[in-house]
Amino acid sequence: MGEHTAYREASLRGLFITGTDTGVGKTEVACGLVRGHRARGLDVGAMKPAQSGHHPGELSDADRLRAAAGGTDAVELVCPYRLGAPLAPAVAARLEGKSLSLSVILEAARTLAARHAALVIEGAGGLMTPLTDRETFADLAVAFGLPVLVVARAGLGTVNHVALTCEALRARALVARGIVLNRTSRDHDPSEPHNAAEIERLTGVRVLATLPFEREQAARERLIAEELSREVQF
Ligand SMILES: Nc1ncnc2c1ncn2[C@@H]1O[C@H](COP(=O)(O)OP(=O)(O)OP(=O)(O)O)[C@@H](O)[C@H]1O
Ligand SMILES: [Mg+2]
Repeated sequence: MGEHTAYREASLRGLFITGTDTGVGKTEVACGLVRGHRARGLDVGAMKPAQSGHHPGELSDADRLRAAAGGTDAVELVCPYRLGAPLAPAVAARLEGKSLSLSVILEAARTLAARHAALVIEGAGGLMTPLTDRETFADLAVAFGLPVLVVARAGLGTVNHVALTCEALRARALVARGIVLNRTSRDHDPSEPHNAAEIERLTGVRVLATLPFEREQAARERLIAEELSREVQF
């Protein structure tokens, strides 16, 4: 546990978005929620505290979140740490001879919080992804003190991954705001019709939506903005 775990940002309003893995749809959900709330008049800002392994020519998570939140915040505030290697932030930073600091991230969040009514903050990978040599994203979530939304795959294996993530949240007294299952593959999966109910039974946390496979990014964000964002108040 890191030195900042006892510290909570008492005044922050918003949501921390974690996943059961990398590539499960955190950025889609984060951008859709930000856009949906902003469309209904709530000035929501967005943050990706650390990102690693951005492909040249593609929009990074930070670029997408910044655009969803109106495009006026400095990139350095939206994403204080942008690392080259496609590795966990702590590992990528080590390779670059850098070290990440929770205080720098919290300071950027404070500045953004002063500019917006609420913040949506996307982690990297999952809850126990190493952020620094001493801290994981779970420690960052504790420091933010925000409710946590868990994004997970819709198919086989997700019940176990979601249950483990919910246990890790509970162990830290973090509030699980809900779970979003996301179909990242178009393949038929016989577990899908059962997974939401099984997850709710096992964890006691609500599954807010199961998102369909949708090839087009703009259409995915629109669907989340129009349908899911009403379910996720903060
Ligand atoms: N519902 C969906 N239908 C089709 N493709 C999807 C869907 N959701 C996500 N994808 C695709 O899956 C990939 C991973 O999504 P996304 O980038 O949101 O994951 P992530 O959890 O934010 O990953 P990271 O840990 O890298 O931040 C993206 O390439 C996206 O285009
Ligand atoms: Mg992402």
